[in-house]
Amino acid sequence: MTVLLDPAQHGPGRHHRSLRAAAVRVLLGNWTGNATVPSRSLYPHQWSWDSAFIAIGLRHLSPRRAQRELESLLSAQWADGRVPHIVFNPAVPCGAYFPSPDFWRSSTAGRPAGAPSTPETSGIVQPPVHALAAWLVHRADPAESGRRRFLARLHPGLDAWHRYLTAHRDLGGRGLAAIVHPWEPGLDNSPAWDTALRRVPPAPAGSFRRADLDHSAASDRPTDLDYARYVRLAADYRDAGYDDARARFAFAVEDPGFNALLIASEYALADIAEAIGADPAPARARAVRRTAALTDRLWDEERGIFTARDLHDDRLIPVRGVAGLLPLMVPGLPRRITDALLRTAAGDHFRLGEVHMVPSYDLTGPEFDPSRYWRGPSWFNTAWLIHRGLLACGAVAEADRLREGILRDAGATGFAEYVDPHNGAGRGIRDFSWTAGLALDLLCGHPERAR
Ligand code: SER
Repeated sequence: MTVLLDPAQHGPGRHHRSLRAAAVRVLLGNWTGNATVPSRSLYPHQWSWDSAFIAIGLRHLSPRRAQRELESLLSAQWADGRVPHIVFNPAVPCGAYFPSPDFWRSSTAGRPAGAPSTPETSGIVQPPVHALAAWLVHRADPAESGRRRFLARLHPGLDAWHRYLTAHRDLGGRGLAAIVHPWEPGLDNSPAWDTALRRVPPAPAGSFRRADLDHSAASDRPTDLDYARYVRLAADYRDAGYDDARARFAFAVEDPGFNALLIASEYALADIAEAIGADPAPARARAVRRTAALTDRLWDEERGIFTARDLHDDRLIPVRGVAGLLPLMVPGLPRRITDALLRTAAGDHFRLGEVHMVPSYDLTGPEFDPSRYWRGPSWFNTAWLIHRGLLACGAVAEADRLREGILRDAGATGFAEYVDPHNGAGRGIRDFSWTAGLALDLLCGHPERAR
């Protein structure tokens, strides 16, 4: 049963205690024995970046379980290094989620690219938050981590994952990883993708059946036309054997959020390498190079935010989205850039501190929709990342306010998937795992603080 908590009624101390208990209940309820489903209804398999955020919460409940969350994800890694965005649970009926394993056909179509024969997975990726998560999981209980050789066992897979993104996904040839599907940055229907997606011929209506609408309001979800394009892009990639050199990508974009998370994870990978006596220099060098490329390629001086670059015309996409604020957590950016980002976050487009958490898209933008997935609603994972970024930039008061807002919204909505930034009303599904995991993390504090 979803529990709703109101700090005004419970008082802050009791609210936090009840919230912690409720978050733990969600995480226990969504645990399958090896990993955690984002949601029992809408997302009944294992998702890549969800698992990273979930592990960050689980480390406070059971460091061992947090380790297993990441280990089970990486056990489905492909031989080319990619970490697939979904790992399918064979016990779940095929029709419970679309696109299902018989659409992706990883074990056959993905075989030449190195997909495992089992389990079945998708063939695209999600943001590389995993090294950061692994490092935070280790820090929660270094002794237990050492006993299980957690870092030593994970390091080769994490290193191969970052190398995949560096070697196979630098489609623009300028040092950034490109995304080839709007699901890859995790911000599926962001208005940032609208123009690039118009080039993609939709799959015929009636050629697929969406399962998401069985569980969530259609007004909170991407449209049928969006889905038809998602299906086309995924099918074309599959039909090219998921081969990045052979595929002709109708959608190819450099996204600031994806690359900022890769940089943060490269630094975490360097910390991991150091902890196990391996050489941290390659990961650090990649982080430094990518930071320079991020600034060169994606900083939009006029808008005071990072924007995505469409590789079809090599132009910045003039859309302010929350992904453009995520570089706040990238170490070593020039102070004039972080100052501009802080001003943009506090200004009319995001109104940090005035609205609920951080809207996924510009509050003043023509496509802003407070309910529809990534076209306006505020999400807990991006708010958690920005909280980390604010701490890294020394904006402690803003970070503390955001933390309280995240905890209030998580409790008041029963761990909603996302919320209306104007009134905090929950949208999407409830008992959502990363909402619970990241709330738990904020309740337990950040012993390691941000870099
Ligand atoms: N976010 C997508 C979905 O809604 C896929 O990762 O199913």
